[in-house]
Parts: sequence; C-alpha cells; structure tokens
Amino acid sequence: MSTHDTAPGASTTTATGAARIQQHRRYLMCRPEHFTVSYTINPWMEPANPTDTALAVQQWQKLYDTYIELGHEVHLIDPIEGLPDMVYTANGGFVIDNVAYGAKFRFQERVPEGPAFMDWFRANGFEVAEPVEVNEGEGDFLLVGDTILAGTGFRSTGDSHRELAEVFGKEVVSLNLVDPRFYHLDTAISVLDPVEGPGGVERANIAYLPGAFDERSQAILAERYPDAIRVADADGAVFGLNSASDGLNVIISPRAKGFEAQLRERGYNPVLVDLSELLLGGGGIKCCTLELRR
Ligand code: ARG
Repeated sequence: MSTHDTAPGASTTTATGAARIQQHRRYLMCRPEHFTVSYTINPWMEPANPTDTALAVQQWQKLYDTYIELGHEVHLIDPIEGLPDMVYTANGGFVIDNVAYGAKFRFQERVPEGPAFMDWFRANGFEVAEPVEVNEGEGDFLLVGDTILAGTGFRSTGDSHRELAEVFGKEVVSLNLVDPRFYHLDTAISVLDPVEGPGGVERANIAYLPGAFDERSQAILAERYPDAIRVADADGAVFGLNSASDGLNVIISPRAKGFEAQLRERGYNPVLVDLSELLLGGGGIKCCTLELRR
C-alpha cells in the first residue's frame, strides 16, 4: 500500500529547520513477468518455496504507480524469459551524466543480463562503458553528493571500484560487506539526499545498517556521515534500507517500522510499498529501481 500525504513537488521543514526538497527522478524498471526463484545465489532464495508471479507483478505495479504519482519518469526494459532476476534493474548498470557503466554479473545465471541492459542503454541514447571487471551496477554503487560509495565482499570486486573511478573520474569509497543477507550495498545503505542543496549547501545524507559492514567500513561511514540514520537490525532484516528517496519521499517496506519513524522525525515522507513476493528472490524496492542520471 502506498500513502502520500505530500503532493509531488512539495517540501517539508524538519524540527531543526532543514527543508526537505523533492527532486525529479528518472528510473529504469522491468516488469517481473518471468519472475520465479529457480536457483540460489543469495541466502533469501529457496527454489523449494513456491512463488506467485502474478502477485509479484501486482506488487511491482504498485511501486511503478507510486513513482508516477510522485511525478517521476519511469522507463521500462522488456523482461526476457529465462532471466527471472531481471526485475532487479539496479544491477543492470550504473549511470551518471548519460554514461552507463555496464554490469558484469558474478553468477552465470545472471550473466546474460549484462549485455541486455547495455543494449537498452545504447538504444536509448546512453554512452556505454563496457566493464572488464565483475560488478553488479547500482546494487553495489551509490552516488552520494559527488562521491561514489562502492560495496564489495559478495558480488562486485575491488577491481571494479578502480574501473568505476576511471570511468567517472569521481572519488570512490570502498566498503566491505560482511553479512551474507546483505550482499549488495543497496541492502545496507539508503541514500536519502543524494545531491547538494541550493547554494551548494552540503546536505547529502544516508541511512545505513552498521552490522552489515566490517569495522573499517563502519568507521568510514561514521566519520563521513555523522548525521546518518543508523537503522536497527530488525528493520535491516526486512530490507528496510532497500529503499528509494527523492530527497523528500522515501519509498520503504511497510515492515520497517523503526526506520519509518526515524524518517518522519527527520522530515522525510515515508511512502510504504510492500514487495514481499520479490523478497523471495532477495530483492526489494531499490533493487527494482535503476536511476538514469542524464
Ligand atoms: N536474486 C538477485 C540476486 O541475487 C537479487 C538482486 C537484488 N538486487 C539488489 N540490487 N540488491 O542477484
């Protein structure tokens, strides 16, 4: 279910006087017409458990409709039979300034998705940087202000972080994921304010699950983002961090109750969308959403 108490384009002011400003987003999604769990590449996937493709499509549609109602632009890539994980478009690449760094998947089951997404980028006017190194796109790379946070440990390699820095010429900060349930960076960090505010005021901020990271990475996050929301394990465990923010509205799982309250306290508008069926594949809201930055 989605709730909107704030109209698109609106802003709110927090107790501390900081205004939350909605920014326009352009996303790429893929309708889960072929969704199922037929293999196991993360701890959430259990092929013996039944999946309901119609329910997955219905829940996905609610996410799509929510973005549209909020005034965002959503592009679609055609689902391909035999690629049940293609719904998780965040893994299809990483896009900044019209340049798409392509994905090179770690597991054989998803390898064909890499070229499929690169074809889509080319056909839609993006410049493609073909990857040499194994990386799973925006699942592991998050743009915060002018810095790219990059995850490793389970999927994208450390070498891909170097390649990423070469492609975009930006600072890349490597973070080590240590809990197999949180195998992509976007399951452990949510970017709330990805860009600098008016007048160059630094307002980029994140929410994260400390326990998903090793000590060194936790120290980096604490130092760089002293105002970050630290999310409780219970909210992390229901993929609460796998969310999408436009700077004001934050689309989150209805099960992440504590995170929802933390967002409200900070002046964000949590919008609840349940993707329980897609969680059977180990993915949530952010996984189904790739940002197309032109
Ligand atoms: N079954 C998919 C995989 O394991 C889920 C991907 C989730 N995507 C994400 N951005 N976290 O690869």
